Amino acid sequence: MGTQNSRIQGFYKLNPFERLQEVKAFDGLCDDDLRALHGGHGILSIERADKMIENVVGTYNLPLGVATNFQINGRDILIPMVVEEPSIVAGASYAARMVRAGGGFQADSTAPLMIGQIQLVGITAMNSARHDILAHSEEILALANAQSRSLTALGGGAREIEVHIFEQSPMGPMMVVHVVIDCRDAMGANAINSMCEAVAPRLEQISGGRAYLRILSNLSDRRLARARCVVPPKALERDDISGEEVVDGILWAYAFAAVDPYRATTHNKGILNGIDPVIVATGNDWRAIEAGAHAYAARNGRYTSLSVWEKDEAGNLVGTLEMPLAVGIVGGATKVHPAAQAALKLLNVQSATELAEICVCAGLASNLAAMRALATEGIQRGHMGLHARQIAMAAGASGPLIDEVARRMVEERNIKPARAEEIVAELRA
Ligand code: MEV
Repeated sequence: MGTQNSRIQGFYKLNPFERLQEVKAFDGLCDDDLRALHGGHGILSIERADKMIENVVGTYNLPLGVATNFQINGRDILIPMVVEEPSIVAGASYAARMVRAGGGFQADSTAPLMIGQIQLVGITAMNSARHDILAHSEEILALANAQSRSLTALGGGAREIEVHIFEQSPMGPMMVVHVVIDCRDAMGANAINSMCEAVAPRLEQISGGRAYLRILSNLSDRRLARARCVVPPKALERDDISGEEVVDGILWAYAFAAVDPYRATTHNKGILNGIDPVIVATGNDWRAIEAGAHAYAARNGRYTSLSVWEKDEAGNLVGTLEMPLAVGIVGGATKVHPAAQAALKLLNVQSATELAEICVCAGLASNLAAMRALATEGIQRGHMGLHARQIAMAAGASGPLIDEVARRMVEERNIKPARAEEIVAELRA
């Protein structure tokens, strides 16, 4: 075990090698783990990549950053994030520092229950069929569990049968049977789909209908993670704006997202800015997370903010976030990709629910960072400052020129591709 303090001052000022040494000191990772996090010359070998997906011609690198300052349920955590957008890692780290001042994040989660769906059509007496299926629940669950020994060995498995009737659809009436499955530490997609396919013939027999689709639902609203944070106004203040004013600005920003779907979509994108990079770093399925998050945001028939922000009696800003988080720490790319393995080791999580809790905290942190910036000076100044290096590179700068071109553009407050090209030409001359 290392120092276990995620509040690493000046982390951003170090070079990548020095940062890796800090990460090593934090968690006592071995050199192989560090090599995997560093990526080096393609830590994911072409041979391995070729077995992961089809038609492989190469691998594709993205930056892996480490967010600092996170304290979740009293534990200090360094969070690996893989993402192309500047200011996400900085924003999450900065927000985590503010939250730290209020005691850190509290997080919890439901059991890792997922839903598999079997669509049945051509049933003559829908309600009677529904009763028959429910009466055979135990048999159907046993059939499902016989299909996936690995899940049951882990203590998971099919738990519950639900029946939903749609009297009308573009093709006529249909029945949809839900199999609720405890996926333990697996994301579970393959086990769920296999179970659905395994029970479908028996459901056809019982209902007299025909099974078409047999697939998991990505609206995993039985597999939720929740985060909460309390931020004292003092931690939010800026040189020119009091903490109380910033709290009010953030509450107005939240109110905007609560009522307006156009704003809620961007607000929720800001939450996912914190979550997707952890999902990618740990080899999980980010499309599933995105689909579940947005569907959950519309669960009451109107798309709204996933997070809620309030002020408590003492004037502290209180943020909560609850959303589906179907992640795994066993199976799939989490096991095959060496960097995903090292990322999970750095997070030191023992269960998929613990990983989900970290993700939801990273989401709440990103949301807070974005709202604080938006409610005060706007995001462009900070963002463009960090984006300047990408613009410098796109304009042809390399090596030490990158930082120099970026520095000059920030100083001149003129961060534009044309200006970058001029400075590159000037410095080269
Ligand atoms: C940019 O990636 C994310 C933000 O647009 C989120 C938000 O508006 O809340 C800044």
